[in-house]
Amino acid sequence: MEAPLHFDSLLLHGGLEAAPAGATAVPIIQSSSFAYQSAEALEDVFRGRAPGPVYTRIGNPTTEALERRLALLEGGGVAIATASGMAAITTAVLTILQAGDEILSSSSLFGGTFSLFRDTLSNFGITAAFVDPLDLDGVRNAINERTRLLFVETIGNPKLDVPDVPALARIAHEAGIPIMVDSTVSTPYLATGAKLEADILAYSTSKYINGTGTTIGGAIIDRGMFDWNSPKFPHFAAYHAKYRAFAFSARARKLVHKDLGACAAPFNSFLLTEGIQTLALRMERHCATALTLARFLNNHSKVAWVAYPGLDDSPHHAIATKLYGSRYGGLLTFGTGDKASAFKVINGLRLAKNLANIGDTKTLVIHPASTICADYNAEEKALMGVTEDLIRVSAGIEDCRDIVGDFKQALEAA
Ligand SMILES: Cc1ncc(COP(=O)(O)O)c(C=O)c1O
Repeated sequence: MEAPLHFDSLLLHGGLEAAPAGATAVPIIQSSSFAYQSAEALEDVFRGRAPGPVYTRIGNPTTEALERRLALLEGGGVAIATASGMAAITTAVLTILQAGDEILSSSSLFGGTFSLFRDTLSNFGITAAFVDPLDLDGVRNAINERTRLLFVETIGNPKLDVPDVPALARIAHEAGIPIMVDSTVSTPYLATGAKLEADILAYSTSKYINGTGTTIGGAIIDRGMFDWNSPKFPHFAAYHAKYRAFAFSARARKLVHKDLGACAAPFNSFLLTEGIQTLALRMERHCATALTLARFLNNHSKVAWVAYPGLDDSPHHAIATKLYGSRYGGLLTFGTGDKASAFKVINGLRLAKNLANIGDTKTLVIHPASTICADYNAEEKALMGVTEDLIRVSAGIEDCRDIVGDFKQALEAA
């Protein structure tokens, strides 16, 4: 038997099947639908008796190549690529929850997910309760008879707290509910879904997976570990009878993903399959640069505070080291005391780009309180760890000396 490939090799070869004319890149199959020779053949595909693509909203060969690779990178399972990270989270959550059910979510969330849970889903009878993911007893006590899902980010964006995801998984499982993990910030390079003991992953591929800021995308990974044969999930009964451990991805693919229509475009799947090949190299550099920059900022007289799990005095250092093996991600935040000085620093940066994204090869900054979190009140901002002086930095892969130099000159001029 052939030895399984290591993670860095899977990034290049995982899920790639023979392409026409010996092509080494995934072919872009830019076709909305797929023709079959006979009515019988198409019926077989529709009924799941034969494999094959039907219609790109439901599945596409270019997207399937990406899906196979993503599933392998998480330690196995089934992946569904979506149009965006929000599409992945929405599809995954709606596959599990029904009106009257509740999500127990980490309070340390990306703003879009917070708004989905608090505002959009509540209009359809799905409620959310928010809890500090570091408080394991608090999480255990917040699970009630309506709770059907525990949702957590591996490294909170932008709070940069680091919950003990496997410990949270155990709490969820004791209560008979699955845990869904958004690992956008950590990526499978820092820890796979298998290592995190996640039942389901739902994340944005627009960030580090793509890597170059060219593509919006998302992915759902079903690790096939949760037992859906439960009175808590009667709507999974038929799927469990047929698809057993993969009842979740079957229900997602055949029902919610198909009906919501937030599919990945083949060209975007191609860009993601290209981008992901360098994930390991980029993540190493993102992590190393973020640590150097965090240490520099920590020693600067104009910086009031720095949050980065890689700093020895970070309250998240020990858990992050345990889960992510001395790699702490490419995101850091720091404060300069007030909004006016934060704006001055941002305006003084020459290299770092001021925009609403993370995980690009280029260094990015943003002032979340006035932009991506502007619609939240003071209490909600506090929950998400967003202060008026906070600047979020997504460390790029430029020469680290240029990045540190850019922040140095901007702070000196502020
Ligand atoms: C942690 C996290 N999850 C989900 C998303 C949503 O992803 P997308 O913008 O691809 O919809 C983001 C976007 O910033 C994010 O940072």
